This record gives sequence, C-alpha cells and structure tokens, in this order.
Amino acid sequence: MRTPYIAGNWKMNMTPSEGAKYAAELRKAVEDAKADVKVMVAPPFVTIPAVVEALKGSSIIVAAQNMANHTSGAYTGEVAPAMLKDLGVNTVILGHSERRSYYAESDEFINSKVLLAIQEGMDVVLCVGETLEEREAGKLEEVLSRQIKVGLKDVSADQMSHITIAYEPVWAIGTGKTATPEDADSAHAFIRDTVKDLYNNDIAENLIIQYGGSVKANNVKALMAKENIDGALVGGASLSVDLFLPIITFDK
Ligand code: 13P
Repeated sequence: MRTPYIAGNWKMNMTPSEGAKYAAELRKAVEDAKADVKVMVAPPFVTIPAVVEALKGSSIIVAAQNMANHTSGAYTGEVAPAMLKDLGVNTVILGHSERRSYYAESDEFINSKVLLAIQEGMDVVLCVGETLEEREAGKLEEVLSRQIKVGLKDVSADQMSHITIAYEPVWAIGTGKTATPEDADSAHAFIRDTVKDLYNNDIAENLIIQYGGSVKANNVKALMAKENIDGALVGGASLSVDLFLPIITFDK
C-alpha cells in the first residue's frame, strides 16, 4: 500500500513573511482536514527557516528545491546538505526540469546530488520527464529510461526507500495542459518497470511516483485514481491554501 504523497513546489515564489503566513494557514487546514496523505512544501531557500518555524510539530514536510553536490567549500551561491539539515530539512527535490533546462543540469550532475543527499541521510524527490519535442519524436521511454538509470546510478537497493520519483512532462508544466490520466499512468508504469529492472519487484511496487504538470483541484482525482499515480508535485496551484487544500483532500 503506497501512501499518497502531495507536494507543493513553490519555485521562486514567496518571501519569508509570505511563506510563514501561508504555512500557518496550511497547517491549520491540513490538521482540520485529517487527510491520510503525506504533505510536503518546498519553499525557496531563504524562506525555509520561516516555514520550518511555522510548521514546527506539524506533519507537513519542508523540503528544498535544490542542493549543491558538495558538502562545503568554495561554491559561491550554493547550499550544502548540512545547512539544510541544520534547519531540520531532510528532503530535497533534485533534477527539476527547470534546473535541467535553464541551468543546464545534466543527468550525471543530478546523480552526484542524489548520491550526496542519500549519503547525508536525506530523502530525494527525483524529477524526470520529456519535452514535447522528445515526446513527438517517440522518445518518451528513451528519455525516462536514461534519466532514471543515470539519475539513480550507484543508489543501492537499501537506499531506494529514500527515493520518490516525480514524473513531470515538461510540456505540462505551468501550461495548463495536463497529461491525460491514461498517458500519465502509462509513463508511470514505464518508470515502475524501469525501477523493477534496475532493482526488484518489491522496490518498484513500494516506489512512490508523483505526477506533476498543471495539477489542479479539478484533475487531481482522476489522476490519483490511476494505479501507478501515487501523488502529485504541484507548482502554481500550491501557491495558495485555497487551491492546494482541495488537492491534498482529493480523496474526501
Ligand atoms: P505547475 O503545477 O505549475 O504546472 O508546475 C509543476 C511543477 O513543475 C512542479 O514541480
């Protein structure tokens, strides 16, 4: 049985004061809703302390949107895992398509961060997904397979309990275009099969695979009803409690 995992990626939105206000509201709403769902929010780095403070004692997980691939040193502008852990942050999103496309992060580079996060005892949400051009060229499986195989290289079977995969087709991010539940489920099934080939059936069956790309209150239920869709990684609709709560409570 896979517990649904609903996450909000705030991207470059919300100042520390806005984040604190939002977090207090979300906390109350989630406590009142009593949904049997794992909930996570990923604020920008500087907003993390305010959100951690507002969510102290709550079950809502606070994650980072990115992390350095080094433990410390002369890496201007970067944030090390120990800095996150010192704030109480033990989860990190890695390989988001915006990092891949705007900041040229390669699968190998993302893999180095995945390995460091795992070594530091952190949980990882590894994002994968194809561009429209790749999908139209019939390369969906080739792209997903490479992103997973390289992204998870040298991650052991024992460490796989720390990995969540988020399937985010690039053409569905922030565009209002969602993959149909059928298309998303078939990509998720392919991801699960790939993980089964790399590891084993148990690991593949226990793997949480989130869908991301224009998830909203009005499409979450149909997506979550699919066998291989275990959660959502939500961008735009996670930026207000009014929009995010109905996604968290999709099952109610
Ligand atoms: P949107 O929900 O705004 O499409 O963003 C999805 C996403 O990229 C989450 O990481």
